Amino acid sequence: MKQRIFSGIQPSGNLHLGNYLGAISQWLTLQDEYEAFFCVVDLHAITVPQDPAELRRKTLEIAKIYLASGIDPMKSTLFVQSHVQAHTELGWILNTIARFSDLEKMTQFKDKSAKSEKETVGIGLFDYPVLMAGDILLYDTNVVPVGKDQMQHVELTRTLGRRFNERFGETFVIPEGRVSKEGQVIMALDDPTKKMSKSAESEYNYIALSDDAETVRKKIRKAVTDSGSEIVYADNKPALKNLINIYSLLSHKTTADIEAMYVGSGYGDFKTDLAEVIVSFLTPFQERLKNISDEEVLAVLKAGAEKAKGIAEVKMKQVRERVGLLA
Ligand code: TYM
Repeated sequence: MKQRIFSGIQPSGNLHLGNYLGAISQWLTLQDEYEAFFCVVDLHAITVPQDPAELRRKTLEIAKIYLASGIDPMKSTLFVQSHVQAHTELGWILNTIARFSDLEKMTQFKDKSAKSEKETVGIGLFDYPVLMAGDILLYDTNVVPVGKDQMQHVELTRTLGRRFNERFGETFVIPEGRVSKEGQVIMALDDPTKKMSKSAESEYNYIALSDDAETVRKKIRKAVTDSGSEIVYADNKPALKNLINIYSLLSHKTTADIEAMYVGSGYGDFKTDLAEVIVSFLTPFQERLKNISDEEVLAVLKAGAEKAKGIAEVKMKQVRERVGLLA
């Protein structure tokens, strides 16, 4: 029996290189080894206000991005979170064992809520990691491949899984989070102390997967660099380190090879080449994306939801019984 992986992306904002390098590129290699479930987590996206038509469009787009990246529906199960009602049901049941003190600690909640007035911060935003725990536990997931920013949520998932098992008897597999080494956090191009983010105010923060060649060149030219002029991969040069990581992950060259290639040249040459490395990744990717029809992706999502529902329903029967809900 293959072990299982589960991961997901929210259909909100512009998907960027951080999402690709932190999450999707890991999934591509793992889908051969594991039984894989990749979800478009629309119920997570509505924890902040979304335009309904735009949310539907984005949901399809994320699924197309999975396919264009090379997630293979013959190997992996792709589906939309809201198509499998068990996610909300298990989310609710886990709410009854999650504690205020568990959720209060979540860094992402603190960051996101700090941006709005306290009185207007929604319960959904606060509760979002519990829904995520439900996503993962529902499928007896062994491994959760994510970017580093999601590891705290995976840790909470482990806590809730263990707590449920202790109270009601062995029910859930306790999953492990997994981050890829260099891709674990891709930092913002305009500020190497912050992560590249879909919800960033400035578009110079990120390279969107939809950016055209000219936009990529412009954004890389404008990317913040550190003092000095040599191309070195070092912790005291966080901006450059981030750019070298992106270069390395997309070109499959090691960071040491990249340093060696630019001995004697400056930021200008390095940045020109980096932009071209990104463009040669994005151009064929965007071409594949354009050629995937709505019908094709809808068929994949329908089949994926059917398969996911089958597995989720078996688990939910067990959960309802353990908790004491009348059959
Ligand atoms: P989301 O949609 O914010 O991000 C999707 C994935 O992209 C990774 N990521 C990054 N990786 C490296 N550098 C960055 N700058 C960067 N920004 C984002 C994230 O770590 C994530 O892996 N709550 C999740 C979605 C979710 C989920 C799940 C994930 C819901 N249920 C179950 C795994 C399992 C989220 O909001 O990710």
